[in-house]
This record gives sequence, C-alpha cells and structure tokens, in this order.
Amino acid sequence: MANKLYHGAAYYPELWDEKVMEEDIKLMKEAGINVARMGEFAWHTMEPEEGKIDISFFVNVINKLYENGIETVMCTPTPTPPIWFTHNHPERMYVNHEGKVMGHGSRQHACTNNRYFRKKANEITEHMAKAVGSLPGVIGWQIDNEFKCHVSECMCETCLELWHQWLEERYETIEQLNEAWGTKIWSEYYHSFEQVPQPGPAPFLHNSSLSTMYRQFSMEKIAEFSDSQAEIIRQYSDAPITHNSNVPFSVDNERLFEKLDFASFDTYATQENKASYLMNCDLWRNFKKGRDFWIMETSTSNAASLESYASPHANGYLRAEAIVSYALGGEAFCYWLWRQQRAGCEQPHGSVISAWGKPTVGFQSVLDVEEMRKKVEPFMVETKPKKADIAITYSDQAKAFFQTEPHQQMDFRSLVTNFYNHFVSLGIHRDMIPEKGSLQDYKLLFTPFLPYISDEYRKQAVDFVNSGGTWIVGPLSGGRTKEHTVHTNAALGKLEEIAGIEALYTYPMDGTGSVGHAFGERAPLGLWSTVFEYDEKTVVGTIAGGNSDGKAFMTESKVGKGKIVHVGSLPVGEEGDSLIRKIIDHYATETEVSVRTDVTSGTIVAPRIDDDGKQSWVIVNMDGQGGSVTIPKDAMDVLTKEKVSAERLDIGPYEYRIISF
Ligand code: GAL
Repeated sequence: MANKLYHGAAYYPELWDEKVMEEDIKLMKEAGINVARMGEFAWHTMEPEEGKIDISFFVNVINKLYENGIETVMCTPTPTPPIWFTHNHPERMYVNHEGKVMGHGSRQHACTNNRYFRKKANEITEHMAKAVGSLPGVIGWQIDNEFKCHVSECMCETCLELWHQWLEERYETIEQLNEAWGTKIWSEYYHSFEQVPQPGPAPFLHNSSLSTMYRQFSMEKIAEFSDSQAEIIRQYSDAPITHNSNVPFSVDNERLFEKLDFASFDTYATQENKASYLMNCDLWRNFKKGRDFWIMETSTSNAASLESYASPHANGYLRAEAIVSYALGGEAFCYWLWRQQRAGCEQPHGSVISAWGKPTVGFQSVLDVEEMRKKVEPFMVETKPKKADIAITYSDQAKAFFQTEPHQQMDFRSLVTNFYNHFVSLGIHRDMIPEKGSLQDYKLLFTPFLPYISDEYRKQAVDFVNSGGTWIVGPLSGGRTKEHTVHTNAALGKLEEIAGIEALYTYPMDGTGSVGHAFGERAPLGLWSTVFEYDEKTVVGTIAGGNSDGKAFMTESKVGKGKIVHVGSLPVGEEGDSLIRKIIDHYATETEVSVRTDVTSGTIVAPRIDDDGKQSWVIVNMDGQGGSVTIPKDAMDVLTKEKVSAERLDIGPYEYRIISF
C-alpha cells in the first residue's frame, strides 16, 4: 500500500536559467506537482569535460524543490554520454543490425556493453549517489532511461566478444551448440565459439536459434548493466530504485526488475488504445508483487516529436487515466514533461507548461487530476488492489521468439493486448503475471502466445492444475523448444503426454475456410494452428471445413484435481472475438471466478480491499460515453458518504465513483 499518492513531472532544470526555475517551482505548486524526476540526460551538465565531475547544480535544485514540498526521483544520465566520450571513438558506439555505427547527437548512441562506457557510467553513478544519495528530497532513483527503446541488439566488436563468452557459458562445447541449433543446415556448422557470427547483414534469414539467443544475450546484458548501477547507488542511498520501461522495448522486464526495488513504466497509449494502458497497469503491478508501481511518464495531452504527433486526449480523459492507475496499484502518475522544450527534437510534445511559461492545453486536466488525487488519497492509502481470480501470463521471452518468428508480421504485444482486452470487456478482473509469477490462489491460468514453455513454467502450471486449477494453453503456445527449434517427440513436446492428447500437425489456418465450433458458437479459425485428433474423451472444439474437417482445435483434459485446456487455433473476426469471449466466460463460470462485474464497455471497475477484507470498487468511465454497472448489494459512496442502493448505477462521461461494500 502506498503512503501517499504522487503526482509528478519530468523536469530539466539544466536547460533553463535560475529565474525560470523560480517560476517553475511556483507553477508546480499551483498545479499540485509533488515529485520531479530529473537528470536522465544531463551527463554533460554533471561532467562537461572528462573527469571533471560536479553534481552541485542538482544538489541545489533538489534542495530547493524540497524546501517547496516537491520531492525528487533522481536518474543516472547514462543514455546520453557527452561528446568527450563519443568524438573520434566509433568503437564505443552502438552498431545496428545493418552494421551502421551510430554517431553523436541523439540518445542511446553508445554501446552499453563497451568496457570504457561501463567504467565511465559507473563513475558518474557513484559520484551522483555520493552527492545526492542522502539528501532528504531524494525519494527514489531511476536507472538510465527507457533501455533499448530506440535500439535493440548491438553488433559491435565488444558485443561479439561477449557473445562468444556467453555462448561458451551456455553450451560449454561447440558440439553441443551445433547439435542444439541444428547447424548442419545450410552448412552453418561451427568449429569454435569464435566462429559464431552475430545476426548481422545476411542475404536471407538467420537460423532461428542464433537470432533468438542473441536477443536473450542482449536482454541479459542490459539487465546486468542495470544491476551494476543499482548496486553502486545502494552503497550511498536507501531510496528505492526503479527503471522506466515498457512492453515494446528490447528488454526482459521480468529479469530487469528482479534486482530493482519498484517497477515503473512510461505510456503514450492513445485514448482509442486504452486496452494497452490498462494492460500495463495490470502487468506492472505484478512485476514487484505487493509494491505499488509508478507511471513515470505520460503525456498531459499529446505525444509528439519533429516528425509526428498524436491526437490530444479529450478533456476529461487524463483524470480518468490517473484514477484508473491509482486504483489498479499505481503510487505515482507523472508527466513527460513539465516545461515544453525550446530546443531539441521534441519541441512539439505536450507538457504542463509551455516554453514561454503559460499553461498548455493540458493544464486544466492536470488541475483536475490533482483535485481528484487529493480526494481519493486517503482511500487509496487505506486499501490495495484486490487479487484477481484469473492470471494471464506475459512474457518478454515470448516477445523475443515472435521477433525472430513473426509468422505474418505479428508481434507479441498486439496479440496479447487484444487477448487481454476480452477480459476487460467481460468485466473480469485480471492479473497479467510474468513467467515466474506465483500461481497461488488463482482459479484460472491463461497462457496465450508462449511459443516456448519452459520446464520450470510447465512444472508450476501442472502443480497448479494438480491442486485444482484450470490451465488454458494457447493459441500458439508450446510449439517451440528452448533453442527456438521444433520438438521432435511431439508437436507440443511433453504437454501432450501430460494432457493425454495427440496433436496431429500444425499449419497456418487463415483463409482455409476452417470453422471452429465450441460451446454453441462458431467462428473462422486463423493463425498458425495445432490440430488435434478427434477424441470423444477430450474434444471440446471441433473444426468444420478446410483441410482438417472433423478434427479438433480445442481439447480439455482432467489432470489431478484440475484441467488442462488446449486452444490450438485462434478464432478470428467478429465471430472469433465472440467465441474467444465465450471460451473465457465458460471457464470463468465453471471455476467460479467471482471478481467480476457486468460493467458496460468503456467503463472499468477496479476492485480494492482493505486490511479487514472490506471491499470497494473504483468505477471509472474511460470512453467519454458514460456507462453503468449493477451494484450487487447496498453500499456506500466513499467520497460523499451517501448510501448507494443495490441496483444499476449510472456513471457519467469520464466520471469516477468509489463504492464500498
Ligand atoms: C519517452 C522518453 C522521454 C520522451 C518521451 C516523449 O520515450 O523516455 O524522454 O522522449 O518518450 O514521448
């Protein structure tokens, strides 16, 4: 549970003079900003010449903000090493998949594995931690900024060397690597680790194992970099440490947050794409269980850069976003950025204050958020998000598999977001959990789009089933091995034996005229699919038409006290969406999922609970159309203290209510 709710903004005092800072502080107080995040691009200000490090500018700003009731999250400035580091040093720079070496002038231009970079990054981190680590204004740390948001796997010489070491640790002998990757294909065969290339320029695609393992190598290295900064900071500061990440970046978020203290993310989802916003809240809450997450960056109105802009939020939406995030487990709601930039490549980006010091189009929304924050803070502090009955697995390892094998330009993020959104439409409260997340106390586990199901994951899921849980596997799950190859004992490896089913073959079902029938509904089937033998004992979904007429696309097997359900294919189109919801609803009803409401689409209910088990709902309209929900028993409005009777409750456009039972 949070002790307070933060309302913050990214602040760049190094870009302005003292007078502007005075004005900023005054305006921040008016807007209700109680935390500023600073420093992530300010390496030059801290170390203008190599070795001449002086953090006093920030010490000053932090103290001044603190005197005015504004706390600080301090960031390490490592996404932007200064010119003294980069000039005439191509060997220190990031190299992309085409072999192009990055130059100075943007961000993330250095290779984070370069040894000299690491040395310099550690030095600046240590100086900062020493200088500001014990200041009372510093309440948290952010490491770097959005790792791997613009870049992915680096192809420089240092990375090549580290890649070889990594492979040797993983495979021990080159023979084992050759065997695992099947390198006799296209005469790829290697005689030593030094011969294994990076997945750089090539006439056609690389071996899937090479590509996916390189992504894993890169994700591990960036997490190690984060770990090393955190370790240095901890020597000088007790303030908790985070990183501002997001789903599309080339990182393994579960691994990244392992050694950090709290989870945070940045989001610029548009209003139309609120599913993505909600999914992030439901996911980030679960990277650090029991610890509130932060929204470290979001726009007051519209995101933009020199090249493009998004549409501004409708008036009212920002407050809806803010209360939803607080209700779903957020401790902080912060903007990028405070004052519009007068230079650089992000001048058109939405902000709280314009470059000339006037309120922006989003300013009133910020005031509305602050008014709401003050009202709901006592309630949020007393309660926490209620655990869902349903868990959906989210995996950045799966994301990497999809990057290597996107089938038809598919990406894990959109597949999972669409799937997730069905739970929202059904009014079912849900937890998105990382692969290693505990399954304790859930009733239903969904594992969609996880090409490789690890032994560890399967073991946990089977234990869950044995003790009574229902595990729904697929679509597109289980068909690949750890090495990103195809199983040779059965299409789905060990899963088939455990579930007592037989997968016959796999192929793309799109456009084949195959229609899936299950639970009284029908819909076209699509995507790379697994077809099961028709077996009276296990069949729940059959295929009509196409290449596999009469076979099964869905099976159900009793295992221990629970069930394993395989969904081999994705129902598509509008009928498909309806069938997927039917499937979810069927198993939610069967397993007596109770954290669920009949709220209308576009409005959401976030259930919360206090220490005595007293339950509440935070109801928020997010589409500006208003909505309604049935209140199951007499309740009370937490904010007005008025009685709310057990009947249909209407919610106005962007309105929020807190009802307690
Ligand atoms: C984020 C980044 C910020 C800013 C923002 C603009 O990705 O961390 O520095 O660029 O996007 O939307």
